[in-house]
Amino acid sequence: MKFLVTGGAGFIGSEFVRKAVERGFEVCVVDKLTYAGDIKRISNIMERITFYKEDILNKEKLLEIFEIEKPQIVVHFAAESHVDRSILDPFKFIDTNVKGTLNLLDIALRSKIDLFINISTDEVYGEIKDKSKKFKETDPLVPNSPYSTSKASADMLGRAFFRTYGLPVITVRPSNNYGPWQYPEKLIPVVIWKAINEEPIPVYGNGKNIREWLYVSDCVEAIFLIIEKGKIGEIYNVGSGEEKENIEVVKTILYILNKPEDLITFVKDRPGHDYRYALDSKKIKTEIGWQPKTDFYTGIEITVKWYLENIHWLKEKIQALKEFWEEIYKL
Ligand SMILES: NC(=O)c1ccc[n+]([C@@H]2O[C@H](COP(=O)([O-])OP(=O)(O)OC[C@H]3O[C@@H](n4cnc5c(N)ncnc54)[C@H](O)[C@@H]3O)[C@@H](O)[C@H]2O)c1
Repeated sequence: MKFLVTGGAGFIGSEFVRKAVERGFEVCVVDKLTYAGDIKRISNIMERITFYKEDILNKEKLLEIFEIEKPQIVVHFAAESHVDRSILDPFKFIDTNVKGTLNLLDIALRSKIDLFINISTDEVYGEIKDKSKKFKETDPLVPNSPYSTSKASADMLGRAFFRTYGLPVITVRPSNNYGPWQYPEKLIPVVIWKAINEEPIPVYGNGKNIREWLYVSDCVEAIFLIIEKGKIGEIYNVGSGEEKENIEVVKTILYILNKPEDLITFVKDRPGHDYRYALDSKKIKTEIGWQPKTDFYTGIEITVKWYLENIHWLKEKIQALKEFWEEIYKL
């Protein structure tokens, strides 16, 4: 079985690639290596995969790669993935996330692949204020940021290719992932870095926004189970059920690192900031038999430990982020 993995040098994609190689699958990766991509995440398995540094917007090259590799399964992670950046420059998000996905779907159709796993996100549903409710796969998509809108478009294009052309697509909508190797523009690694260095920790608004935190290897395990047991044309939510306010996440990290809470600095809220995301993940649990294995506290402890042990990688990334942080957090 051969996988073609897009975005395989990114945070979640690289975890999938490492695990796929461990499980004995043949893997080729297509990744543009944007600021968010890093070959170091898969350096230990590079000799066992084929790597193409390529943009999913380059259709000719993609066609060539599909002809050479003849993959049976496409797992499509590649995306511009940061909401704040989508607010600064939405155009790139439409290019990569919408047009790039369309390219892949079209080539996958022509290449007669067996399965296309389209990695979407919980953010496509928009926010859910009523705490007694969670989003089901059948709920309408009401995205609010340029990022989530581009992902919703990609999600719907995948479904359209299934319905219109019969491309065997399965849509996966995971909640917020965290874990080792996450680029330090996302909440958890930002907080870890700032806390280690005892710098002000930027928290949007009043810190009460709620996210459902999913440990990255649990997410990847769900994707493998969906590949094995999922039904073509279906959508699967993947959420841990562990809802936390941002401020609680920050305080947990400070507690683990034994740092004072007065490092917390509330900054002007993100424009259009969604209050709460929450997924009903009964379908994947009952139909596929997936369960998250890593509880939030354990996952955060492992993650903090990993960043402490890989502080050079974190530091290298932080240099490039300083200007971006000034623009975003006005710190
Ligand atoms: N991180 C999360 O919490 C989360 C939650 C739900 C869904 N998702 C989705 O999962 C997927 C992976 O997320 P992530 O956090 O690993 O993202 P990431 O930003 O860490 O990685 C994205 C990867 O895609 C590559 N890429 C970007 N543009 C490309 C292009 N034009 N051509 C080829 N490669 C390109 C980058 O180089 C990078 O390696 C994305 O589709 C994202 O929307 C992420």
